[in-house]
Amino acid sequence: MAGRVLVSPQNGTWFLFPLSSLCSRSKHIKDRLHIRQNLFSPPSLKSAMLCRCRSQLQSHQEQSTVSTSAEPFVLTTPLYYVNAPPHMGSAYTTIAADVIARFQRLQGKKVIFITGTDEHGEKIASAATACGSSPREHCNIVSHAYKMLWKDLDISYDKFIRTTNPNHETIVKEFYSRVLANGDVYQADYEGLYCVNCEEYKDEKELLENNCCPMHLKPCIQRKEDNFFFALSKYQKSLEELLSQNPNFVQPSFRLNEVQSWIKSGLRDFSISRASVDWGIPVPNDKKQTIYVWFDALLGYLSALSQDKEQPALQDAISSGWPASLHLIGKDILRFHAVYWPAMLMSAGLSIPKLVFGHGFLTKDGMKMGKSLGNTLEPNDLVHRFGSDAVRYFFLKEVEFGSDGDYSEDRFINIVNAHLANTIGNLLNRTLGLLKKNCHSTLAVDSNIAAEGSAFKNTIEELVEKARVHYDNLSLSSACEAVLEIGNAGNLYLDERAPWSRFKQGDSSSEAAAKDLVVILEAMRIIAIALSPVAPSLCLRIYEQLGYSKDQFETMSWGDTKWGGLKGGQVMAQPKPVFARIESITEGEDVGETPKKVVKGKRIPQSQGVAEA
Ligand code: MSP
Repeated sequence: MAGRVLVSPQNGTWFLFPLSSLCSRSKHIKDRLHIRQNLFSPPSLKSAMLCRCRSQLQSHQEQSTVSTSAEPFVLTTPLYYVNAPPHMGSAYTTIAADVIARFQRLQGKKVIFITGTDEHGEKIASAATACGSSPREHCNIVSHAYKMLWKDLDISYDKFIRTTNPNHETIVKEFYSRVLANGDVYQADYEGLYCVNCEEYKDEKELLENNCCPMHLKPCIQRKEDNFFFALSKYQKSLEELLSQNPNFVQPSFRLNEVQSWIKSGLRDFSISRASVDWGIPVPNDKKQTIYVWFDALLGYLSALSQDKEQPALQDAISSGWPASLHLIGKDILRFHAVYWPAMLMSAGLSIPKLVFGHGFLTKDGMKMGKSLGNTLEPNDLVHRFGSDAVRYFFLKEVEFGSDGDYSEDRFINIVNAHLANTIGNLLNRTLGLLKKNCHSTLAVDSNIAAEGSAFKNTIEELVEKARVHYDNLSLSSACEAVLEIGNAGNLYLDERAPWSRFKQGDSSSEAAAKDLVVILEAMRIIAIALSPVAPSLCLRIYEQLGYSKDQFETMSWGDTKWGGLKGGQVMAQPKPVFARIESITEGEDVGETPKKVVKGKRIPQSQGVAEA
């Protein structure tokens, strides 16, 4: 790589940027970009570079198709800005990523689940000033708030990367040097409209009246700066090839068209340094500038992989699991992940991630919920009032993953009560109550024997396979639906078979009734595994009610969803409701002697154990 460095700002040798090549760029960039110094390689090197990109592309495709089980499943959430504490929109991506991580672990994969905080840049520095703190103090506080929320939401991340971490800075500088050595960095004046909230220069044509950013509804600021630029336009063809040869690279599929049309409309180089921002990583060859916050933050995905090394290096990150299997992001940051990031990686000679999934927005009154608009929903408040399982389940079940979804508290309560308290919690509680009364809480026979001659077992096997396929395809709402269907089938079976009246008839009817209970409890065991990625605490409680230990819960795998786990003689725990129903009360209503939590006109029993039997 070092042999390729023909030009650098340090040695003062500059190649003139070829005018013909400039002309082929978009009019926009010609109007606004005044090239001062350029670090492009001569044309022969450029074509060599493109060839290398193509062969990289090929090796990426090979990697995608030939996946060995030893290969870790590396998935990432965006690194969240610490300008303000987390809101439900940020929690949404992380919950979804956690569900996928847990599902992949159940499938036996070694998972590296990366999340973290994006702490540099103008937006963060201004937020710190507004709070009267230094940027560092401010970042420490908000980053900690993210970690606390992830704990409350049962997020099982493996790596938490902060972009202010010194190891991250080392990786950013190494990456920058690679891109520089590849001739993809040049210096120029730039004038344009900047949205601080997006931390991005905007095209005038994408703005609303008064140059307002359509996302943040705030006017963009006219800026003129002398910056270092990344030669994104050079990767136009390679990116087109990446997308045409890997149509699954961007998902859901309808987002691929969006990305393709951005590329088709002509890629313009983007500035990767800021002269006016101190709070950032200094540009290696010009200490007066800091690295653009997006160029810095995207590298968090790599630095997270080499986080624990004393002397981190890109090579460590690569051998620890790069390329990522999945970047999970919101649709607003798709361009950064599906256009800028792959080009940056190609420039540095690194492999491209396998998949970028852009989910939709949680909205309030149709507007994106966000810190800038101040229309957020407090995840801490939701978790403390309703518990993490309810929050996780509601947003995944009720918002089609990939599309937008609006929140309403009434709908939240109705769904959670109907699905988790009634369909699942009640079914378990009723069955265990009958088992206690009639069978001393002990299973009469193996679940395989109990299911002989019944179509119920097949139904459950089909539903659990459906759930697996949906999880695998990231159709998280449909995966929840398939598991819920198991609960519905169980309720139907219980009502049709009415074991409570058969127990009264004695002899063979009692035996049949005892078998019915085993069948339903086996279905509950399968639910406890299949729903565990979404509602881990609830599923642990179900598992424990079925007589298993926490250790057994933690070591189970998806293979355990196979019918036949429950054995005759196994003793179930005393029936204790696993999910508290949320009840509405009107102000001033007597809540009785049992301690109750009354919040904003709703009450939830304090113990997790108050569901209807
Ligand atoms: N710091 C950048 C990401 C850098 S990744 C290398 C950033 N941060 S953010 O905090 O503004 O947004 C993080 C994620 O939260 C994005 O994926 C964004 O789409 C998501 N959400 C923020 N508000 C949201 C909703 N209202 N609904 C769903 N997700 C949304 O962008």
